[in-house]
Amino acid sequence: MAEEQPLLKVTIDNITVEVPAGTTILNAARQIGGDVVPPAMCYYSKLQNSGGKCRTCLVEVSKGSEKDPRPMPKLVASCRTTVMDGMEVKNITSQRVIDARNGVVEMLLINHPLDCPICDQAGECDLQDLSFNHGKDGSRFDFEKRVFDKHTLGPHIQLHMTRCILCYRCVFTADQLTNKREHGVLDRGDHAQIATYIEKSLDNDFIGNVIDVCPVGALTDRTFRFKNRVWFTKPVDAHRNCSKCCGEVRLWMRGDEVFRVTARKDQWGEIATASDGKTGWICDECRFEKKKTSDWVIEGPTKVNRQSVIAQNKYVGLVKPPEFLQEVMDGTKPRYMLDIHSVSGVNEPEIRLDLIDGPAHSEDFKIADEKRKELEQ
Ligand code: SF4
Ligand code: FES
Repeated sequence: MAEEQPLLKVTIDNITVEVPAGTTILNAARQIGGDVVPPAMCYYSKLQNSGGKCRTCLVEVSKGSEKDPRPMPKLVASCRTTVMDGMEVKNITSQRVIDARNGVVEMLLINHPLDCPICDQAGECDLQDLSFNHGKDGSRFDFEKRVFDKHTLGPHIQLHMTRCILCYRCVFTADQLTNKREHGVLDRGDHAQIATYIEKSLDNDFIGNVIDVCPVGALTDRTFRFKNRVWFTKPVDAHRNCSKCCGEVRLWMRGDEVFRVTARKDQWGEIATASDGKTGWICDECRFEKKKTSDWVIEGPTKVNRQSVIAQNKYVGLVKPPEFLQEVMDGTKPRYMLDIHSVSGVNEPEIRLDLIDGPAHSEDFKIADEKRKELEQ
């Protein structure tokens, strides 16, 4: 029988948690949850070897371990640093970390076009949330921003390289999920870009998942582009029998219309685990070709547990007051309703317009006015 490994104690922002050896500081913080969790723009727990690219998850290790309590001299990437027994880590309790994260956000935004008003990712963009929480309201960058031509990667995926933060998630997804990868990071430094070799289109049953893993609006769904803002659509969980994938998806609906289909995401914005215990990647058929409610078994409104604009206006378990107007109007549906009592000095609430014989005149209100004055005296 394999010997049971002792758990290691790590303290993050003064909260202690016990984790198995080999756990990264980021995953230990995720066990605690809340503000203690550093933001992660490139790490993706479902993708092997991800992380270590963006530096948003930097933390301060103020005590290395019980055996060697010396602090680590530099901030470390929490997604790539494993915990030691007795380690003490500072995330939001360290001013160094906060300053460094602000610097990282400023750097990530140097070449970013800041085109949120026209970007399909707005409202569910990790970079938008990150800059809201850690960014500054100005930029010190006076030079012209790096620009790239737009790339259409096949019939379903649009690449806006100007928005890319080179996190490599899409490259790992294509590598690990599809049987061939046709895109990658070409060139170096300022010229580095996500591209396909000689404009090959991305063509694979699972390639649509690159849209879901992209933390910014660099890879977007061409079947949804410019059709709606995400916060106007309502996320609904649904499933279907699919021979290629788990078939468990999130429909983004407005009224009865399905605007887009995505994989389900967890509280870290990563693809959630499906009911079969595997990662819930979805196939392109479910994502791009099943856009009718009749294609799906609807399970109910999604419980959005991320702090983001998509969490707004989603009332699960909403209790509406009973609708009585039709009842009192002998079954006729009201066409227009406007309660002007609170704003109108003319239409006094005590005047029953329904009892006035014919259209109301100013005289009717004058009479009521005089009566009220009499009563007030
Ligand atoms: S396109 Fe998106 S997922 Fe791919 S490297 Fe750029 S930001 Fe990351
Ligand atoms: S999430 Fe750790 S470096 Fe990007």
